[in-house]
Amino acid sequence: MELKLKPNKIAIIADQNVLQLFPYYIDTLGFEAPIHIFSVLPGEQNKSIEEAVYLWQNLMENHFDKRSLIINFGGGMVSDLGGFVASTYQRGIPFINIPTTLLGMIDAAVGGKNAINLNGVKNVVGTVSLPEKVVIDTLFLKTLSPLQILDGFGEMLKYALIGNISLWNEIKGLGTIKSQDIKKEWIDWCVSFKEKIVQEDLYDKGLRHILNFGHTMGHAIEAYFMQKDRDEKKSFHTVSHGHAVALGMVMESYLSYHYGLLSQAAFEEIQTVLLRYYKNVIKNFPASQIKKIVEFCLLDKKNVNGRINITMLESIGKSSPNHFVSEEDCAEAIKQLFV
Ligand SMILES: NC(=O)c1ccc[n+]([C@@H]2O[C@H](COP(=O)([O-])OP(=O)(O)OC[C@H]3O[C@@H](n4cnc5c(N)ncnc54)[C@H](O)[C@@H]3O)[C@@H](O)[C@H]2O)c1
Repeated sequence: MELKLKPNKIAIIADQNVLQLFPYYIDTLGFEAPIHIFSVLPGEQNKSIEEAVYLWQNLMENHFDKRSLIINFGGGMVSDLGGFVASTYQRGIPFINIPTTLLGMIDAAVGGKNAINLNGVKNVVGTVSLPEKVVIDTLFLKTLSPLQILDGFGEMLKYALIGNISLWNEIKGLGTIKSQDIKKEWIDWCVSFKEKIVQEDLYDKGLRHILNFGHTMGHAIEAYFMQKDRDEKKSFHTVSHGHAVALGMVMESYLSYHYGLLSQAAFEEIQTVLLRYYKNVIKNFPASQIKKIVEFCLLDKKNVNGRINITMLESIGKSSPNHFVSEEDCAEAIKQLFV
């Protein structure tokens, strides 16, 4: 790989599964500097302060310094954790992301938000610091499960809805999505769209909020199921982030229609497409729990003075950030999942 910087040594922070699947990938990049590989166990629970301390200590013990480079090799969990470690070690050393999930490629590895979880709260401690480079290689898509592909595909649908009607028209009719259906040009468009927005608003003061479309209500669904999983002592998450956000987009499209921005026809089209892929998520969700989801909406960190803040659509391909909606309307939006 061509590098502008000439690092004295390189630390690869790698997801253990990815290392097992692609043991020789790093060798093919042709680095000249000595390489240390630090393997990280997969799972959201490892995006933790304990793991960060383990990595900082290893960097110290191996005399990493400001002339060294960190490469994060894995999905969003690794780029979030590795980016956090790199941007705090010695007040920040350069890092590169090599995302290996579709979600990582089009979202998590791009845009400079790095974070760990604390006490079960997601991304509560973090930094904003851009990677030197994001290396996109669609080779990694081949080993993803259909669910992992769908997770990233949800995010791709989001980019299409907020910024590219042609992309929406191209991808809305795909049947079952397989990794070979995902075109590199779609990924590249999503990455450059996000990079453009981040360039204008790195610190999330305004424009960047459009990337949150689907996320206020999606996070509420995600948080509801995370709490349910904890109560039922499950060791895994029954509802992933990508799937929850896809449902969030149905609800926030409904609100866009309800508040007079989006046409009914556009809302119904979005609802049909998204529920075709993501309705499974809510099959175990009793409508009696709607109030609980609304309560989670009220906890969202984008809210202002306790008012629920969402990004709306004006049309397919055009978004509008920072609209406030009532609790009653949120409850009505949740019902749109049960058509
Ligand atoms: N920083 C951001 O802007 C941002 C944006 C979106 C999401 N995120 C974060 O990203 C994380 C989710 O990322 P993710 O969806 O990439 O999941 P992940 O990184 O947790 O990986 C999911 C699973 O896929 C496996 N995996 C990774 N690459 C693989 C491959 N090529 N083949 C087979 N298996 C593979 C992993 O081992 C893991 O078991 C969350 O922590 C979320 O908070 C961050």
